[in-house]
Amino acid sequence: MFYPEELIEEVRVRNDIVDIISPYVSLKKSGSRYTGLCPFHNEKTPSFSVSQRDQLYYCFGCHAGGNVYTFLQKYENMTFPEAIRVLADRAGITLPEMEMTEEMKQKRNRRQRLFEINNVAAKYFYYQLRSERGELGKHYFEERKLSAETQKKFGLGYSLQYSDDLIRYLRKEGYTDDVIRDAGLGIFEEREGMRDKFINRVMFPIQDQNGKVIGFGGRVMGEGEPKYLNSPETEIFEKRKNLYGLHLARSSRAKQFILCEGYMDVISMHQAGFTQAVASLGTAFTPEQAMLLKRFGKDIYLAYDSDGAGTNAALKAVAILREAGISARVIDMRPYKDPDEFIKNLGQEEYQKRIDEAENGFLFEIRILRKGYQTDDPAEKTKFETEVARKLCVFTDELERGNYLNTVAEQYGIPKDSLKKKVISEASIGGLKDDRERFVKRERDRQRESGAQENAKYAQRLLLTWLSEEPERYSRIRDYIGVNDFTDPLYRRIAERMLPGLEDGSFQAAAIIDLFEELEDQQAASRVFHTRLDVADDEKEKAFRDIVIRIKQDSVAHDSADLGVDIGALDRVLAAKKVLEKLQRMERL
Ligand code: UTP
Ligand code: MN
Repeated sequence: MFYPEELIEEVRVRNDIVDIISPYVSLKKSGSRYTGLCPFHNEKTPSFSVSQRDQLYYCFGCHAGGNVYTFLQKYENMTFPEAIRVLADRAGITLPEMEMTEEMKQKRNRRQRLFEINNVAAKYFYYQLRSERGELGKHYFEERKLSAETQKKFGLGYSLQYSDDLIRYLRKEGYTDDVIRDAGLGIFEEREGMRDKFINRVMFPIQDQNGKVIGFGGRVMGEGEPKYLNSPETEIFEKRKNLYGLHLARSSRAKQFILCEGYMDVISMHQAGFTQAVASLGTAFTPEQAMLLKRFGKDIYLAYDSDGAGTNAALKAVAILREAGISARVIDMRPYKDPDEFIKNLGQEEYQKRIDEAENGFLFEIRILRKGYQTDDPAEKTKFETEVARKLCVFTDELERGNYLNTVAEQYGIPKDSLKKKVISEASIGGLKDDRERFVKRERDRQRESGAQENAKYAQRLLLTWLSEEPERYSRIRDYIGVNDFTDPLYRRIAERMLPGLEDGSFQAAAIIDLFEELEDQQAASRVFHTRLDVADDEKEKAFRDIVIRIKQDSVAHDSADLGVDIGALDRVLAAKKVLEKLQRMERL
């Protein structure tokens, strides 16, 4: 590694892992750990865990894990030097200038190259729209009533009718076909070779929150499929982590963001003076986007289409925002479909009124829910009320729940006391269900591991886990177990660092993670420190002794296999056998 180890370590300890991860994941304290939805895979129940004591994170679902460096590298796609720079800045530590290794240069170059080529392409499309050859595009935007100023602000452009126009230009500018393809600007086809991805479309460059172009949406002019063609995901274009218009909206003076469905909605809102508008990128709104918006500390209002699909999307967004700790409001645009149509018909002032009257997200959910029931029928009414009670359980704060309960009860004529009782009974059913799920999961895990219990590798991991949880146990085994007894290469490397650390009291789980350069190894290592020992108190001593014996047995077997090739092996085997016999005679260590 290329900075001195002490510096890497200093930067790490000066950045608390909970502070680093919180902007990305909505964490809830749960015992000695924090838990949340894993940002590295899709899930509905939290299996992502952050330990403040160990300064590590670990996901029990996808096994992603590591320390603050690992997290930034994985989530932000940073190189190690980029991650340490960010963390050092946060902590006010100045890093010395350092030479970069070849590999680092390459990764950095690749990203820079992608940013660069997107920028060049954006300028090219921009230029074409304003050239003689851009008549069709110009005409289209005029039809849609976008002013020259608006077109400029969003960097709108046009891709010509030829099949390799942009590619030829990019080659001339010195870009290889590989980069063009990696950026998603060219498509390789068996028969014809490379051709442009975007042909004869009006172009919407997509910018990250700092204004750098990371990809494109290209719209057909008129009818045609697909309506919008988008750049594919690349190293710099991650749809679920970016929002259209955010680089502008972040500095809007409005007290809220307005989340819309489409590029055109954002653009016409900005044109009407609503510079707080953003949209997701052709995919459903994600938890990552919720966390991204949350960082700016504003409210979030939704301006989704008034049709069925839009309503469903809004319901999902409200739920995602709530999970992220944000209570959303919903803007009613009826009888119009979207902000674009609404503003064109009723104008900016009317729209501002709709913003001011936006409905609380939860009350919106209840209103939509109510449509599914015929509440003049007592049976249906009861079902509706039960569902309302169930929904009220999402509020864990009593005061908040009470306020919602009162409002809903009044709005829908439900007796408050009955509703309150219903909430309590629903909450306990929900609680039971939760417990059962947890129980099933724990049993499944246990079974999976009992198969592995046979093997020594598992014992080695367990011992490392145990020592990290109860370091004081080390003194009881130091005479019997050494680094060489760890036959698994990964666990041996952990032991190499951990055992001396336990000896002199300097052991730190998170520092050990940095020993591993591969993310995969870092994950395996964090798993060691993130596993919970699940041994009943009265079985503990026996289990501990069994683990140590199993490791020793395996180590003897391992060395015996080397007898005859390695002259030192015989001495080691004899010594180890003696220790093993002694261990087996002891009832506890
Ligand atoms: P819309 O069809 O509502 O488009 O899709 P729009 O932005 O309102 O544009 P106009 O006014 O019809 O021209 C909403 C968003 O869904 C994504 C785009 O991000 C679009 O802005 N989308 C839609 C696609 O990615 N591909 C498609 O084919 C259609
Ligand atoms: Mn639309």
